[in-house]
Amino acid sequence: MMSYIGAQKKIHNTEYIEMSEIAKIELGGKTYELPIIEGTENEKGIDISKLRGATGGYITIDPGFKNTGSTKSAITYLDGENGILRYRGYSIEELAEKASFLEVAYLIIYGELPNEEQFGAFAHSITNHTLVHEDMKQFFEAYPAKAHPMGVLSSMVCSLSTFYPESLNQDRDEEAIDLTIHRLIAKLPTLAAWSYKNSMRHPVVYPKNSLDYCENFLSMMFAMPTSEYQIDQTIVSALNKLLILHADHEQNCSTSTVRLVGSSHANLYASISAGISALWGPLHGGANQAVIEMLEQINNDGGDVDKWVAKAKDKSDPFRLMGFGHRVYKNFDPRATIIKVACDRVLDQMGIDDPLLDIAKKLEKVALEDEYFKSRNLYPNVDFYSGIIYKAIGIPTEMFTVMFSIGRLPGWIAQWKEMRANNEPIGRPRQIYTGSNERDYVSLEKR
Ligand code: SDX
Repeated sequence: MMSYIGAQKKIHNTEYIEMSEIAKIELGGKTYELPIIEGTENEKGIDISKLRGATGGYITIDPGFKNTGSTKSAITYLDGENGILRYRGYSIEELAEKASFLEVAYLIIYGELPNEEQFGAFAHSITNHTLVHEDMKQFFEAYPAKAHPMGVLSSMVCSLSTFYPESLNQDRDEEAIDLTIHRLIAKLPTLAAWSYKNSMRHPVVYPKNSLDYCENFLSMMFAMPTSEYQIDQTIVSALNKLLILHADHEQNCSTSTVRLVGSSHANLYASISAGISALWGPLHGGANQAVIEMLEQINNDGGDVDKWVAKAKDKSDPFRLMGFGHRVYKNFDPRATIIKVACDRVLDQMGIDDPLLDIAKKLEKVALEDEYFKSRNLYPNVDFYSGIIYKAIGIPTEMFTVMFSIGRLPGWIAQWKEMRANNEPIGRPRQIYTGSNERDYVSLEKR
């Protein structure tokens, strides 16, 4: 039940009564008042931080945190009902169209778009930290060729901390944390590309300071010792847009993992490594790989879209329409809308006619006209079309979630930084115990 109480509030030395909200709950004949907090976009939350103490032990339960906020954040605003996504107040539509990924990374991490001097210094620092320690090359060589690159990437990122032991106790040294941030943003594409080269048993290609962030990644992925990578600006522009669209998404599974691990004051490398592992799951970032595998399966099965939509609706069938549905977006995912348009443009400019795109569009059309999907607000999400562009660029399917990691890195970093700057307590949820009551030990021979 929501009710109002008067509250004294002094702003600009003007004394006035402002009605502020409280929530009242009644438990065991007693009434408890809980404060309401309101964000800058009028989102409201009931603050239960004092609930257990005030009520003598009551906690809340919310599997999957579908109704529970873990923090207040100034980084990303998401309106799931209206399909709005903004980084630090800027719409992704504008940023994807007008900005570079490094500019957006700076914005998300430091809170403002950089001026020319700030951007120049940031880009220069990133460019000059792209190399990884030569000793790390032997780590790659120790992995089997079939090693999934997400397992390699998560391990390599955590291993970076062993080459920078000073990063382990950076709690309050802003300059040292900034150096780690720059190292991570600079080295993740190198680690990603080298994991691919290792899987192909090809020699690694070193970063080039003459190339920009996206060009450098493509060169490390596809150049060979005998041939340069021919930079195609259509591909560079598509990659830049995809990375921007993945850059942050408030408190999703992997970001919440990064915040939770970081809340124990674990270093940034370890926290990002944990985020990469969480993103790997097919219900999360791993969905972009699962979407392409699903489209290929439907294509190889003759392209009967209706049959597969029926399977997705059948509760007895484990098949789900990968790339569809979202915890927050109960309307279209604005990123999917932008990526779908980019899909058409990139494939057209590259002269590629990919049957998987046709199947994806048919799937979307059939599903969006179907009551099962409409009644559950299931729409294509960021992962539904992204794999088709990655495939057109030549990125292997198993690397798709690695691409998601490169895009999401600035968001993970910014969220970790914000959590630490706000001195948030170590994350430690409660539970309701449902196991055995106390019982005595029985010796082995008597059981
Ligand atoms: C990402 O959180 C983020 O912001 C994540 C992300 C980011 O940028 O960080 O946006 C990136 O992870 C996007 C999501 C990628 N995952 C997939 O595409 C996998 C397929 N989608 C689903 O598994 C599912 O939709 C989730 C996991 C995305 C969301 O699941 P929820 O919110 O827990 O919803 P649910 O599983 O409880 O589903 C509600 C209903 C259920 O049916 P009923 O029990 O009501 O009968 O919808 C059904 C589900 O069975 N449903 C689907 C479906 N997704 C949900 N049915 C068929 N196909 C699907 N894809």
